[in-house]
Amino acid sequence: MALLMTGCADSPSSSSSPTLDEVFATRRSIRAYEAGKTISEAEVRELLAASQNAPSWANVQPSKYYVAIGEEKRKAVLDLIGGNKDRVANAPVLIVCSFEKSKSGFSRGTPVDATGDLWGAYDNGLANAYLVLKARAMGFDTLIMGMRNADELRQLFAIPESEAVMAVIALGYRAQEPRTPSHRPLDEVVKFY
Ligand SMILES: Cc1cc2nc3c(=O)[nH]c(=O)nc-3n(C[C@H](O)[C@H](O)[C@H](O)COP(=O)(O)O)c2cc1C
Repeated sequence: MALLMTGCADSPSSSSSPTLDEVFATRRSIRAYEAGKTISEAEVRELLAASQNAPSWANVQPSKYYVAIGEEKRKAVLDLIGGNKDRVANAPVLIVCSFEKSKSGFSRGTPVDATGDLWGAYDNGLANAYLVLKARAMGFDTLIMGMRNADELRQLFAIPESEAVMAVIALGYRAQEPRTPSHRPLDEVVKFY
């Protein structure tokens, strides 16, 4: 796999795979994409297959994906993501994510604890983390969007009520260099005992 850390000033220009630390350092939420560049269905398949390596509750793998890669569907999704539309208008692929409810955290249809379907959301977030990191490793950029019209997306892709519609993820090539956001001091969020 070619190292395609585009937009990464610090990355070595070599043809080797990026290290995990390089992927972490250069993966950012991108809110402007290069126009006219495409991503193939085969590349999206490679990405989603990689995300299937994510752990999930009892390996039930509740995450599902609706990939808008054709222009008609892509434009339809653009109209359902509110103020995100201008940010991702040039992203060639928009991926609507969902998870099948009553699977993660459930045993024979009964929740095993008070967390309920939050375990499904947990699994979906984990799978999406793999997705955006793999995307970066492949030289792509992403924006996870929680600002979206879930009801209309459900209609657009005929997503059954048995699934919870989660984020839309834009996939493309960065047209701007993002700033690395500040992160909370580790000692504010960690306690060692
Ligand atoms: C669940 C979730 C929902 C998000 N929704 C949006 C969104 O609707 N629009 C947007 O521009 N960014 C959205 N973001 C991106 C975050 O703002 C971004 O991840 C955060 O500011 C940290 O920046 P970074 O991703 O560059 O590290 C979302 C991120 C997550 C994880």
